[in-house]
Amino acid sequence: QANERESLYLVSEFANTYFQKILHKTDQGKSIGLSYFKERGFTEESIRKFDLGYSLDEWQAFTDEALKQGYKLEFLEKTGLTIVKDDKRFDRFKGRVMFPIKSMSGRVLGFGGRILTSDKKAAKYVNSPESDIYHKSNVLYGIFHAKQTIAKEDNCYIVEGYTDVIQFHQTGITNVVSSSGTALTSEQIRLINRLTKNITVLFDGDAAGMRASLRGIDLILEQGMNVKVCTFPEGEDPDSFAKQNTLEELASYLQQNAKDFIQFKASILFEESKNDPIKKADTVRDIVNSISKIPDRIKKEIYIQECARIMDISEDVLFSTLAQINKKEF
Ligand code: CTP
Ligand code: MN
Ligand code: MN
Ligand code: MN
Ligand code: MN
Repeated sequence: QANERESLYLVSEFANTYFQKILHKTDQGKSIGLSYFKERGFTEESIRKFDLGYSLDEWQAFTDEALKQGYKLEFLEKTGLTIVKDDKRFDRFKGRVMFPIKSMSGRVLGFGGRILTSDKKAAKYVNSPESDIYHKSNVLYGIFHAKQTIAKEDNCYIVEGYTDVIQFHQTGITNVVSSSGTALTSEQIRLINRLTKNITVLFDGDAAGMRASLRGIDLILEQGMNVKVCTFPEGEDPDSFAKQNTLEELASYLQQNAKDFIQFKASILFEESKNDPIKKADTVRDIVNSISKIPDRIKKEIYIQECARIMDISEDVLFSTLAQINKKEF
């Protein structure tokens, strides 16, 4: 269905141009959307670089314009830009600021739209649904603008959100992509693996998602890549932190706070379980399970030694746990 996919690309490209025009050229766009971005500290240059836009706070302004321009309702519906219910049509992104999500080669695949009010009932972000061109587990927000520096710096930062990517660029760090709030997938990691073997995962300082994310990181180890992790002060995320700091300050923070993932995981698990033997047994299995994902045997051995020290347990125990895990897998 090459033709159908092409139609989805075209309507997405049209929407991208349209949302930017609304942001920059209409009264509502300027007074609501553009001032929102400026208040967040985004410069005109960043807004243009990332093709940020605005979708009018009207039920079907976008859909009407797209139909008028000759785009078929079928494709508006398949990209999720329009929601069709009985004989009514609704703009999915009504009244939201828009973040287009692009492929490695820069084609628009979908959108994230952020609400502007602090309405607790509505989702903060609405994203495009899965379609023939948008598979959320295969895309990384920002990859198009990051790919060159990822290769050049031989490292890729992974952040949680759209705004983290943009604020990092604005501060001067451009080898950064976002998993857009979901757990990392093997496909996303493979995209990065083509450019570098080194990943640094940056966590929001709210700690909530961190425990869950730790498991996803094993997928990076499985691909033989090197992983570091870095946390931010309580209440900060990469966006808010970068906004308050210069490039030199941000770079030195990352330099000083990025920790080897296995060591990081071993230390926090040890802290949590050192006074509880049963819990400690579980965490030992957990950490050895991560180590078992590393393809390189020498690295595996070094990590076993390192974790034995951190968790205050004998290397023998760790090696035999590793042997057990390996046996189960074959
Ligand atoms: N996200 C989402 N849907 C939500 C909440 C979050 O898709 N309801 C995704 C978005 O891609 C978002 C990322 O998860 O960028 C991280 O979420 P969060 O840290 O809550 O948002 P921020 O990116 O920090 O956005 P903001 O600063 O505007 O609150
Ligand atoms: Mn968060
Ligand atoms: Mn955040
Ligand atoms: Mn934020
Ligand atoms: Mn800054």
